[in-house]
Amino acid sequence: MQFEYTPVPNKAVFGENSALKLKQEVLALGRSRVMIACTKGMVGRVQHVINELGDMCVGIFDGAEPHCPERVAMAALDLFKEKNADIVVAIGGGSTIGIGKAITLRTDCPNIVVATTPCGSESTPIYGMLIGNHKKTGRDRKVIASTTIYDPVLTTTMSAHHTGTIGMNSLAHCVEALYAQKTSPISDLFAHEGIHALTAGLRGSIKNPNDLKAREQVLYGGMLSGYCVTLAGIAIHHKLCHVLGGHHGIPHGESNSVALPYAVAYNEGAAPEAMEHIMKAMGTTSASGGIYDFASEINVPKSLKELGMKESDLDIAAEETVQTTPYNPKPVDVKSVREMLQQAYEGIRPVPFK
Ligand SMILES: [Fe+2]
Repeated sequence: MQFEYTPVPNKAVFGENSALKLKQEVLALGRSRVMIACTKGMVGRVQHVINELGDMCVGIFDGAEPHCPERVAMAALDLFKEKNADIVVAIGGGSTIGIGKAITLRTDCPNIVVATTPCGSESTPIYGMLIGNHKKTGRDRKVIASTTIYDPVLTTTMSAHHTGTIGMNSLAHCVEALYAQKTSPISDLFAHEGIHALTAGLRGSIKNPNDLKAREQVLYGGMLSGYCVTLAGIAIHHKLCHVLGGHHGIPHGESNSVALPYAVAYNEGAAPEAMEHIMKAMGTTSASGGIYDFASEINVPKSLKELGMKESDLDIAAEETVQTTPYNPKPVDVKSVREMLQQAYEGIRPVPFK
C-alpha cells in the first residue's frame, strides 16, 4: 500500500448553537476587527450571531452572488481594506466562502466560516471565481478556513430543494474521492462515513426540516466531503459541473444532482472497488442506479433538459469537459462524454459504461 496523507489544517467547531461561539473563535486567532461576508438574504437570519460580536464587527458585505463573480469578490476586498478589518467571517455556503478565500489569498488575513449549508468548500484549498463566463479555479492551502463553525440550527430554514441539491454536491465530493487520483485508505474512510451520513441525514431532513439530528448528519457529511476533496481530489464529475456552471449557467447543486449518477455510470467498469464502497455505504446493489434512485427519493432535478440546458449545447459541453479533465479512472474522450451527457440530458436510468 502506498499513499501520502497531509491532514487538513482546519479547526472544526461542531454542534447545536455553536455559532454563538464565533467571538471566542475570532479572539483565539488573535483577531478583533471582523468583516462579515454573506448574501442579502442571510443578514436577517444570522443577526443574532453577528450581534454576539458587538463592536468587533467593523463591516458587513452582503453582496455574495452564485459562483463568486470577480467584481463581487473585489468589492468585498475593497470594503475589507476600507474598514481596516483583520479577519473575514463568511456566513453561508460555497459562493460566500469564495469571498473569504479571495480575501485571504490577497491579504494573508485568516478567514472563518460559519457554514449554513453542507458544502465542504471551507476545508478545501480550491478557490474559484467567475471571470466573464469562465469559472477559474486555483489551489492554495492558505485559503482553507482557519476555523469552521458547523451549527445545525442555522440549516433548518433551508428549503427541501436547496437541502437536496447542496447535499448532492457533498455526496458527489465523497463519491469522487473514492476514485480520484490521490485516493487513499484515509480518504476512503472519510468518503464512506460521509456517504452514509449524507444519505441518512438528507432523507430525514427532507421528511422533517426541523429534525436537528438529521440536519446534524447532513452538516457532518458536508464537513467530511470537504476533507475528501482536499485529500483525494476530483475527477470527471466535478470538472463537468464546473463546465455546466461556468459556461451554461447551471447552479452547482443542480448540476451535481443531475450529473452524479451518470459520472458514476461512466466510471462503473473502471473503478470496481470504489463502486463496492458506494454500494456498501448506501445499501444498494448498483452504484449509479442507487444514486439515481436516491436522487428521485429526495426529489432533486433529474435531467439537464429540466434545468433548461439546450440539447445543441451538449457537443460543446463534452469538448470542454474533456479539455478540463486531466485525470479520471475511465479515460475521457469526446464521444463517450457526449454519450454520457445525452443520458443526463434525458434523465434516463444511467447505463454503466464498460
Ligand atoms: Fe462541489
